[in-house]
Amino acid sequence: MQLLIMGPPGAGKGTQAAKLATRYGIPQISTGEMFRLAVSAGTELGKQAKACMESGKLVPDEVTVGIVRERLSGVDCAKGFILDGFPRTVAQAESLKLILADLGKQLSSVLNVNVPMEELIERAIGRRICKGCGATYHIKFNAPKVEGICDACGCDLYQRADDTAETLGKRLRVYEASTRPLIEYYKAVGIYNEIDGRQPIEKVTLEIISILENRGA
Ligand code: AP5
Ligand code: MG
Repeated sequence: MQLLIMGPPGAGKGTQAAKLATRYGIPQISTGEMFRLAVSAGTELGKQAKACMESGKLVPDEVTVGIVRERLSGVDCAKGFILDGFPRTVAQAESLKLILADLGKQLSSVLNVNVPMEELIERAIGRRICKGCGATYHIKFNAPKVEGICDACGCDLYQRADDTAETLGKRLRVYEASTRPLIEYYKAVGIYNEIDGRQPIEKVTLEIISILENRGA
């Protein structure tokens, strides 16, 4: 099962990818998360990514493609994977096709989570993330039992540096210009599925599972 979950910033890609990873026993590969880890570790990759992320721009394709190529050749990807936030340019999609071909694989399903702009802003601004296990919450739509504390591991929650109204506006513009064209790209490949991301989290998960398990992925 080689899955790609795509959608605009704050659509719920990470939330759904984590659930699918658990259900199917496959790794969630989030380029955004890989960059955030590199930034907090202060690595060379982190230094390259930091300025782009904080200004809402994309990290250059050659950097991003390089880390994905390495990650996909990991043994834990043999059974499948769920890509979250990669590719997000047509050039990245072309590179992905070549990387997978080298591994004797191809994408089995593309899931595009569709949410209107107004809701994206509320979702991103209210998002909180666990410092310990990375679990994602929302102050209104998916609140932890105790404010500011992770239900799963008890660590403090934090707000992402790029979840400000200003940076989010830039991320949304980058999405429209660079990532939205992937919808037509994957429709042409014939593996594209549209998901109604306005529904509550559990209903979105059920819609995705129904697509994957009824049609096969
Ligand atoms: P990345 O981390 O991928 O950010 P993004 O694409 O902007 O997406 P988000 O993580 O913000 O949103 P999400 O869709 O995962 O939503 P979530 O599930 O958290 O990338 C960050 C940056 O890294 C980029 O800007 C770029 O600089 C760089 N980068 C990453 N990949 C790159 C690439 N391929 N190429 C170049 N640069 C790259 O949910 C959001 C909130 O809503 C949460 O609070 C959640 O609880 C809530 N929520 C989720 N679902 C629902 C629901 N159904 N109803 C109500 N609330 C919900
Ligand atoms: Mg995410």
